[in-house]
Amino acid sequence: MFITQLLFLMGIVMPKLPYSANALEPVISEQTVNIHYGKHLQGYVNTLTKLVDNTEYKDMSVENIVKSAPEGPIYNNAGQLLNHAIYFESFKSPVKDNVPTGKLGKAIDRSFGSFEAFKTAFTQAATSVFGSGWAWLSQDKDGKLVITKEANGGNPVRSGLNPLMGIDVWEHAYYLDYQNRRADHVAAVWDIINWEVVESRLK
Ligand SMILES: [Fe+2]
Repeated sequence: MFITQLLFLMGIVMPKLPYSANALEPVISEQTVNIHYGKHLQGYVNTLTKLVDNTEYKDMSVENIVKSAPEGPIYNNAGQLLNHAIYFESFKSPVKDNVPTGKLGKAIDRSFGSFEAFKTAFTQAATSVFGSGWAWLSQDKDGKLVITKEANGGNPVRSGLNPLMGIDVWEHAYYLDYQNRRADHVAAVWDIINWEVVESRLK
């Protein structure tokens, strides 16, 4: 079972990085992984752990916190924990012509027409998030795949969707490697998506 699925069932834990910090180079540098995973994500975990102490959220799964907490620090930090768990687990070392096949490939074709059409629509979403936020591929209640944008630490579970893949477009995700060139970062990320993991999240 992947850690993301565990997170949906369990309370607050720091997700394990399923590869070494330099495994995503040159798409995402070791330095960015060390800071993004080691400092930003660890920060969300530490802050959330403190915030939920002596509250009704203490023994809740992270998913349920994200679904039920009112907007504010608990919601923001739980959202970012869930988002980053999904995010870091969705990568692998770069592969050329890295495309989804099987069940996920078929679902993408059915929902968007083709993988290329999906990629264009997802790129458009990711590059047009204003300020800090995320672009998501999710599955709706009818099994159809949809692309959504979330501001700040938003996660599609809040809207009843099943998140399959999320790309972080906060500047901390790419600034050291790409500076202001968010579009270049998003264009490069396709080489490191672990489609097998993304497919495993289909319900
Ligand atoms: Fe992030």
